[in-house]
Amino acid sequence: MGACAFCSRTIGGQLAARRSMRTHVNRMERKLRVVVARRALPLLVPGYRQYVEWLHSTRSRSRERIFTRYFRSNHWGDESSLSGEGSNLEQTAALRTALPSVLNELHVRSLLDAPCGDYHWMVHVDLRLDRYIGGDIVHDLVHHLQVSYGRNGIEFMHLDISKDPLPQVDAILCRDGLVHFSFRQMDATVRNFKRSGAVYLLTTTFPDTKMNRDIITGDWRRLNPCAPPLNWPEPLMLINERCTQANSKFADKSLGVWKLASLPSG
Ligand SMILES: C[S@@+](CC[C@H](N)C(=O)[O-])C[C@H]1O[C@@H](n2cnc3c(N)ncnc32)[C@H](O)[C@@H]1O
Repeated sequence: MGACAFCSRTIGGQLAARRSMRTHVNRMERKLRVVVARRALPLLVPGYRQYVEWLHSTRSRSRERIFTRYFRSNHWGDESSLSGEGSNLEQTAALRTALPSVLNELHVRSLLDAPCGDYHWMVHVDLRLDRYIGGDIVHDLVHHLQVSYGRNGIEFMHLDISKDPLPQVDAILCRDGLVHFSFRQMDATVRNFKRSGAVYLLTTTFPDTKMNRDIITGDWRRLNPCAPPLNWPEPLMLINERCTQANSKFADKSLGVWKLASLPSG
């Protein structure tokens, strides 16, 4: 290939440079169009905001349908807990012992346990709090828990943790919850947790997992929020649950404690 008369580049080199510049400009144009559309749409199209809200509520209803089906069909197949094997008394023994002293150490007086699932193991924990609120997306389950266990200082609420206003508490316990969420829903949930004004988040982590994969909400995967692409800071505390499920394949399963303000989302 010959060299250009005006610069030292080969003709092929010049063409490649022009092509890459064109691709770059096209990409910038596309990005600009998306930004303008996002900003302008709510102003130009009447009802756009209502449409987005409707879309969110539809998604929330479909999430509720999925987990209600799981609850009614005992999808996770444990004999004692409708929330799955990870929520039976054997798998929660270490956590049930550790949780009261961890909350005490953090000076937590009020706790939102969401999702609370069927409250199967939590009913055995001597929490000694001023206020315990269990929250779950399955309406029938929450109603049953409120009738069976609700009393002064203990209540149950029907809520979607990724979008509904949450009660203001010192800490949120989200055990075996985010592991079922897509990255997108996880992000919305952490933003909602932050909005609630809670100081601490206690949530499930598998610290040996090196990379997180995205899933469809309702499925399950091992989640280590400190690994890419989530990259949370290291937890303040880590409580190993001594999980023996699947021949101890998940022996690293733990509950991590983070300050919500330190989390990247939002
Ligand atoms: C595997 S269970 C864990 C329950 C409990 N944390 C435990 O340790 O036993 C998962 C629960 O998450 C609830 N859930 C799923 N999506 C939710 C959402 N967006 N908001 C509130 N609860 C949700 C399900 O109904 C189910 O009860």
